[in-house]
Amino acid sequence: MGGLARRAALYNEIRAQKENVFLLDAGNLFGNRNELEKKQTEFLVRETDALGYEIFGVGERDLNYGLDFLRDVEKQYGFVFTNANLRNGDTNELLFPPYVVRKKAGLRIGVISVLSPSFRVVSMTAQTDNFTTDSPRDALEKYLPELRKKADLIILLAQVGTQELRQLLLDLGEDSGIDVCVEGHAPRQYRRVNKVGNVLLVAANNQGKYAGQLDMLITKDGQVKDAVVTIHGFDEKAPDVEEIRKRVDKFKAENQPETAQVSAFDHNRPYGSESERFLGVSTCTRCHTSEARAYSSTKHAQAFQTLAAKGQQNNPDCVSCHVVGFEYVNGYDRVPHPDTPGRDTLRNVQCEACHGYGTQHDRGGEWAAAAKSSCANCHDSANSPDFDYATYWSRIAH
Ligand code: HEC
Ligand code: HEC
Ligand code: HEC
Ligand code: HEC
Repeated sequence: MGGLARRAALYNEIRAQKENVFLLDAGNLFGNRNELEKKQTEFLVRETDALGYEIFGVGERDLNYGLDFLRDVEKQYGFVFTNANLRNGDTNELLFPPYVVRKKAGLRIGVISVLSPSFRVVSMTAQTDNFTTDSPRDALEKYLPELRKKADLIILLAQVGTQELRQLLLDLGEDSGIDVCVEGHAPRQYRRVNKVGNVLLVAANNQGKYAGQLDMLITKDGQVKDAVVTIHGFDEKAPDVEEIRKRVDKFKAENQPETAQVSAFDHNRPYGSESERFLGVSTCTRCHTSEARAYSSTKHAQAFQTLAAKGQQNNPDCVSCHVVGFEYVNGYDRVPHPDTPGRDTLRNVQCEACHGYGTQHDRGGEWAAAAKSSCANCHDSANSPDFDYATYWSRIAH
């Protein structure tokens, strides 16, 4: 909320400098399922209207207050939501247009959006609303061919977890027609150009604290010739729009103040299951002494300290790749959980960050093999541009 007035100032500045600005949001605009956040969401939506977003994707949180609430937002403020795989569970109809095409600078831009079925849609009005989510891959394979005929440039707004999204883009293949994918959901920013196959993958998420700017040079037939990524953060130093700041301050003063206390990370954990646990490196060390010795001298064993040295150990954007199981059920959290002890000690890139839950230990050789494909989750082109499996493995081999 604090970022709103600064966000407005940034957009004004960009619009003053650039032509053909196309403003999109991947979705998950709305707050948690409680009355206070509902009120805050109503306030935010009203203020967001003036920022001039053209199209929104749909995240599972956007149905937190029920479909009627969202329909009101569409009607009252003219917000355009798009989604290709979320259905009314009773009638089986799609809730939103599967894609939207807009003209900009003589270019037809197609925007399509999907939501991962692993993010459960639950409303405060759950007694009446009933939703189903199709497989994102099926939905995209169905609608992309149509959209390719109608659009020169295609942008996918994806509310899909990082690993699942990478796999989805690979599965869709080089000819999917998707030029740009905006990754929603995970609290993550890609600060440099990040590509999966032909697709430019961008992200600037975390509770409205960032905005991502993608400058592209595009030919008349929709070929992206050049792309530059800029991530804008909204810290105290960023300029703001005074009237908006005043309205935000007033709203905050009239409603519950934010607490500065360290609380649990409030984010989705799309992977894993309640019945599994991470046991921590000290358990593995009991039997695997030589591996543990090799591990202890690698940078993985200090990855959390690296963040602490920068004062970023509570920043979920950073923590995600510097601990064990941030996006997993029962993975790292900064506060202890009495029912699943030890979660607050899962710091650093320990054994299970690559090998998976210790409770799944015996997999007859498959376990070691599976760890090979874990690297890319963290060593993506934005955070580890020089990554090469053979070279990197040789530095940490055990
Ligand atoms: C959970 C996220 C995560 C996974 C999975 C992961 N890494 Fe890392 N890796 C990191 C982080 C974070 C650092 C930086 C640690 C630091 O410097 O504090 C790092 C650092 C490294 C380094 C040290 C680079 C240097 O400067 O010497 C190597 C080598 C490496 N990783 C190899 C791998 C390999 C190979 C895999 C897969 C088998 C892998 N990593 C899996 C997060 C991860
Ligand atoms: C997507 C995973 C990912 C995220 C998110 C991430 N890191 Fe890292 N980080 C890595 C990996 C992988 C390396 C090792 C890179 C290498 O050596 O190739 C690394 C290395 C580092 C290093 C040591 C090398 C260097 O560049 O100085 C620092 C410091 C660091 N990260 C800080 C941060 C901070 C601060 C954030 C949040 C803004 C962050 N990281 C978010 C994966 C990540
Ligand atoms: C950065 C990711 C990563 C971390 C951290 C990591 N491993 Fe591994 N581990 C791997 C990979 C990848 C392989 C498979 C290498 C291969 O077969 O080429 C492997 C292989 C193994 C093997 C099988 C060795 C063999 O000869 O079959 C054991 C046992 C093992 N790891 C235990 C551990 C333990 C214990 C820790 C923590 C002390 C740990 N690993 C930390 C990635 C990791
Ligand atoms: C009680 C002793 C014991 C503990 C504790 C233990 N292991 Fe093992 N582990 C073994 C033995 C014995 C094997 C070899 C037999 C086998 O493959 O199951 C093995 C095999 C492995 C392998 C290779 C097997 C495969 O399927 O690829 C990996 C990887 C591994 N352990 C990782 C870990 C990790 C990570 C931890 C901590 C969460 C851990 N182990 C804890 C005894 C243990």
